Amino acid sequence: MKTIIKSLIIAGLATATYAKSPASAPAENLINAQRVSNINIANISPNDSIWRSAKTASVILYPQTTIKLNDAKANAANKDNKAKVAKVSAVYNNSAIAFKITWKDDTQSVQNGYKSDVYPDGFAMQVPVSFNDPKKLPYIGMGSEGRPVLVHLTKAVSLHYEPNGNGDIEHQINPHNTNAFGSDLKNYDDKVNKLGKQTYSRAFISEGFRSMTEIKDGSDTFGMKMVYDAKNKTWTGVVAKKLRDGEADLSKYGAIPVSFAIWDGDKLNRGGVKRLSSWVAVKLQGKAGGDALVKELTSKPKGDAKAGQAQVEAMCASCHTLSAAKQATSAYMAPNLNNIGGYSTNAYLAESIKDPEAVVVPGYNRNAHKSLAWYNLDAKTGKRTTIMPPMMSDDKSINDAVAYLKTLKAEVEK
Ligand code: HEC
Repeated sequence: MKTIIKSLIIAGLATATYAKSPASAPAENLINAQRVSNINIANISPNDSIWRSAKTASVILYPQTTIKLNDAKANAANKDNKAKVAKVSAVYNNSAIAFKITWKDDTQSVQNGYKSDVYPDGFAMQVPVSFNDPKKLPYIGMGSEGRPVLVHLTKAVSLHYEPNGNGDIEHQINPHNTNAFGSDLKNYDDKVNKLGKQTYSRAFISEGFRSMTEIKDGSDTFGMKMVYDAKNKTWTGVVAKKLRDGEADLSKYGAIPVSFAIWDGDKLNRGGVKRLSSWVAVKLQGKAGGDALVKELTSKPKGDAKAGQAQVEAMCASCHTLSAAKQATSAYMAPNLNNIGGYSTNAYLAESIKDPEAVVVPGYNRNAHKSLAWYNLDAKTGKRTTIMPPMMSDDKSINDAVAYLKTLKAEVEK
């Protein structure tokens, strides 16, 4: 595996950028990536000198509420989640791009071993494989059919062991199986420690829920690391990737859409239960192109939110939950739109209303809620057809509805 990943450092290395960043308000949803000379993908670190020239932008991550889990404990823990502001900077050069993201988390959750009810803190960066039409970006959660995304994910994990291919994982981790004493035991422990890993960094390609496939052949060259600052109670994550590799060619664009996700381990965050940003435009400073993307992702919705609200409440609330006060009949009926305005683009919302078939959100567990499936499945082709009818066709109504949907989002944590 060519993918090289640097070990996770759990504490230390203060990175107080969160507290120090300027309070001025730059355009929302826009990150300016500064050009730097050298990006060490394999050993990318929050302390690299490359970050000195980088500008910091605020990116808001909203609780992803699309899907209701079948887990009462997790649902209760995440019921009143607010949005979090992360500080993000980006740098690039001819061959690589790197991001640094800092966010508040009062509790450092590191996964020890693989218990099924223990979850660590973590973060991910995703980028579309291609994005020629800024109005047709992939589904924000994890891509969609025909619109794949690359996801780079890392989690805070303690020393752990993965099968080494020799079928002796038991012996790797249990010194009682060795009959070793004294210095033999110490040598054995040293050997075992070397086999252990303190990092979990993975690259996936995804074309929608349940299609996440890990890229294991090294064709995606990236590095990640996350560092907890116990004093300021913040995580800082860094991720660097080649602009052009086996999966995607990002080197041809002047601006790139990216999205970030963060997981809070002590709130049992996993999979879809996390905080997620919308697509954010990353403008590569000094490089031509990408203006349409920047415009698309930074412009305000055109419609009249008040008019939209009346329509949406009348036409959509039977299936969709719109807010805590306006719950749909069943939480399993259709995606919960509570935070849809936070993590969706204007274009995606317009498309969802006009042409629901374009992206079919598959739901959490079709088998658990058979009578409330979100789509019909063609057994032969495997194609999903949404149960949501096209709701509006005139631009005025759609723009109004989008303007209202954009207001549906959690308050930002202070
Ligand atoms: C008959 C029930 C029903 C009605 C009525 C309905 N929807 Fe939907 N909607 C769904 C289902 C089911 C999905 C998930 C499958 C899909 O993506 O099409 C969905 C998906 C969506 C999505 C994508 C959600 C996401 O998480 O990405 C949006 C946005 C949306 N609907 C908006 C609306 C709006 C606005 C209206 C009213 C104008 C509306 N819907 C009316 C059932 C409905």
